[in-house]
Amino acid sequence: MRDWDTLLADCQNCTACSLCRTRTNVVFGRGDRASKILFIGEAPGEQEDLSGVPFVGAAGHLLDDLLLSVGLSREKVYIANILKCRPPNNRDPLPEEQDACLPFLREQTALLQPRIIVCVGRIAAAKLIDPGFKIMRQHGQWFERRGVLMTAVLHPSALLRSQSNRPLTYLDFVDIAERARAEGIL
Ligand code: URA
Repeated sequence: MRDWDTLLADCQNCTACSLCRTRTNVVFGRGDRASKILFIGEAPGEQEDLSGVPFVGAAGHLLDDLLLSVGLSREKVYIANILKCRPPNNRDPLPEEQDACLPFLREQTALLQPRIIVCVGRIAAAKLIDPGFKIMRQHGQWFERRGVLMTAVLHPSALLRSQSNRPLTYLDFVDIAERARAEGIL
């Protein structure tokens, strides 16, 4: 298994799919490499592509607010995405792009050894929990996969479009923080 620095360097040089031709920066992931809580989004957007940092646009600000509202922060967790490069015009990641990129996330996960994985949005939940995942029905539910507790929350960009779902997402974050405290990892 590669160490963090080798994995990062390989990711930054990756040409496994065509998104390498349109990216400005690879968005590898950020946060505490010793954290036992891993948040996984879908793919970088414009601001992330420009900065190389996940969740720094409008959706990212909302994610920060949700984390802070339950005593978490991006410094206390690790944040990554299914795709490390931005799909043009923020279209959904293609299955072949996800498959090409997933080995990086798998190795990040192996290095982190998280106790809790939070899928941020439908695409991550479908890829990592269940291909038929119904985000409106199943957000906030807990699943155990190979000893890891997994859950999914609505994507903050969906919350920016539909404010009425914010309270239920706040409750999901409350539950995540409670679970982390119960597990002794917060
Ligand atoms: N949306 C995501 O899913 N990930 C990011 O990093 C930014 C926006």
